Amino acid sequence: MRPIIAMKEQLRSASRKAAQGQLAQYVVHDLRSPLTTLKLQAESLQTLEVDQGVSRGKLDRISRITSSAVEQIEELLKVLNRNGNAPITKKPCDVAEALHQAVNRVYGASLAANIALETNIQINKHTILRGDDLGLRQLFGNLLNNAIAAVTKQYVGETGGVIKASLVANKNYIVVKIEDNGVGIDDAVATKIFDRGYSTLLDPEGTGLGLSICKKIVGEHDGQISLLTSKSTMFEVTLPKDLKK
Ligand SMILES: Nc1ncnc2c1ncn2[C@@H]1O[C@H](COP(=O)(O)OP(=O)(O)O)[C@@H](O)[C@H]1O
Ligand SMILES: [Mg+2]
Repeated sequence: MRPIIAMKEQLRSASRKAAQGQLAQYVVHDLRSPLTTLKLQAESLQTLEVDQGVSRGKLDRISRITSSAVEQIEELLKVLNRNGNAPITKKPCDVAEALHQAVNRVYGASLAANIALETNIQINKHTILRGDDLGLRQLFGNLLNNAIAAVTKQYVGETGGVIKASLVANKNYIVVKIEDNGVGIDDAVATKIFDRGYSTLLDPEGTGLGLSICKKIVGEHDGQISLLTSKSTMFEVTLPKDLKK
């Protein structure tokens, strides 16, 4: 029989490995989108006839997307250091700021795909709550990336694609909406989208992790996330203000 201490150690390292494996998946998920855009931009630059104005613009986009990818690596490293499955630490954070940062991060990708990115983000004293700003940024980033994928599918680089990000805050709660006019989600698919691993995107584009991560982050903030579809697709996140704490 093995000594109990050795078995405990084995168990600990197994759960650590599982946590690391999950984090590695998260890293891949978060970096795939900006890096793919970067790759496409670079490829189109290679085939371009020499035109300095156009090249300049493309290079600018490449550099913006690269720095956003690097920022994400740094953030994820911080999460890794915090040891993956550790409980999140909540501190006062500005949800409007988190949404702004997430929007800025996908700006290059939406520009490259010819998508209009519209924001209506309320700025007032109510946009602050106790939460995890890294998680909130990831939440909004995932929703925006899904919107970009859906609009890109629908418009294939043509004009007409629109994504709207809005935030309304009062003393009781903060509501963030991410809306797009992409391919849409039919009822049969809608029941599965929050399941871990469910994706309608072709491998290796989709991991099916994005919305399950969103759901987890919203849960950690005692909030709710729901899908509202009509002519457009809209994800609505309601985060309660922590009035008790
Ligand atoms: N804005 C959207 N428009 C259309 N479909 C969406 C949208 N957001 C999510 N979906 C659907 O939900 C599925 C799961 O999304 P997600 O969990 O982020 O995984 P992934 O993006 O890797 O496929 C997507 O594959 C897609 O079918
Ligand atoms: Mg996704």
